[in-house]
Amino acid sequence: MTQYFTINRLGHQGDGIADGPVYAPRTLPGEVVSGTLIGQLLTDLRVETPSDQRVKPPCRHYKACGGCQLQHAADDFVADWKVEVVRTALAAQGLEAQMRPIHTSPERSRRRATIAVRRTKKGTLAGFHGRASDTITKIPDCHLLDPALIAAIPVAEALAILGGSRKGVLAVTLTLSEGGLDVAVKGGKPLDGPLELALAQATEKHGLARLSWDGEVIAMRQPPMQRFGGAGVVPPPGAFLQATKDGEQALLQAVLQAIQGAKRIADLFAGSGTFSLPLAENAEVHAVEGEAAMTDALDQGWRRAQGLKRVTTESRDLFRRPLMPDELKSFDAVVLDPPRAGAEAQVAELAQAQRPVIAYVSCNPVTFARDAKTLVNAGYTLEWVQVVDQFRWSSHTELAARFVWGPAS
Ligand SMILES: C[S@@+](CC[C@H](N)C(=O)[O-])C[C@H]1O[C@@H](n2cnc3c(N)ncnc32)[C@H](O)[C@@H]1O
Repeated sequence: MTQYFTINRLGHQGDGIADGPVYAPRTLPGEVVSGTLIGQLLTDLRVETPSDQRVKPPCRHYKACGGCQLQHAADDFVADWKVEVVRTALAAQGLEAQMRPIHTSPERSRRRATIAVRRTKKGTLAGFHGRASDTITKIPDCHLLDPALIAAIPVAEALAILGGSRKGVLAVTLTLSEGGLDVAVKGGKPLDGPLELALAQATEKHGLARLSWDGEVIAMRQPPMQRFGGAGVVPPPGAFLQATKDGEQALLQAVLQAIQGAKRIADLFAGSGTFSLPLAENAEVHAVEGEAAMTDALDQGWRRAQGLKRVTTESRDLFRRPLMPDELKSFDAVVLDPPRAGAEAQVAELAQAQRPVIAYVSCNPVTFARDAKTLVNAGYTLEWVQVVDQFRWSSHTELAARFVWGPAS
């Protein structure tokens, strides 16, 4: 039976939500839509009255591909919506902040992508997971990825022919680096002598900088160097890297503005040194990160670089063993950039530590707002929030924020 609904708002996944709640993917507030309700999901969906914010999706793959959720909406609408997601998360904790203008990364700027590859009777099928999760959509004209990544998809296909199983889907993470393409494969056949040899030959044939297979480095022709400020770092295979260079720069600028003038900085959840190494141009930095391979990479990058102030590293689980107030007291600024879960335990200690400035970078507005509430309750002021959108057309929202100790001046 066809039913009609009016969309009230977008949910966190970017789906339209009508009273019920009824979820209507790829619809916009104010639109009247019709379809058949299966549970809470509207299927066979038709947009009866389109919003004036609805646009023709720029990418021809959008209909089938699951990589983007918001290409049917005008850029300004998406930008305002992302800022509003953060404002709403803060309001749910009784907080408000000055929102700086959003920064959105340009089209075709993603420098890293995980391509799904399945072996088929005829060869391979490679692309992004489709909107229905067991499908794979080819993406030769993807508007997200740097063209060099799209050009590398045949490499992912070739690797699947060598080491993909018929049953599973290979996850091939392609990352652009100064040394060339850095490739990390997960979900392939177990390594044995012949496969290792074939993969090493493929590394040569395709001119890859590095190839790793389920975490094991098979071959490295060139160091897959990433540049953080003046330092070159070779991150461990598959390690975290900000999705676009443009987004990384926007976050770094926000962090630099937040901690301006600080001379001793703790960089927590430091990764391979995205922030620590540029910050070390003007300040001593103590970088703390859970993955020892990343702190090692950071340390080596610092040792190779010239003209940086001292950077020390510590591999430490900050969920279980956060830095305590007496460890934090020598720092005049703290930068933190936790995973989606946020930094509840560390923020509880920062609340006690009363540091002059905190720059908090977050990829989850909800856990950010929870942690912000702890800091504000302790006596910090949330001065501003800068939304940075490096996941263009997705429902994902990232931000950087500045907290200072004491009341607003
Ligand atoms: C969002 S990334 C940020 C990394 C870095 N700041 C950057 O911009 O490249 C979060 C980092 O937190 C690290 N991490 C995750 N859980 C952790 C934990 N319990 N303790 C310490 N570090 C952790 C991850 O390894 C990852 O490097």
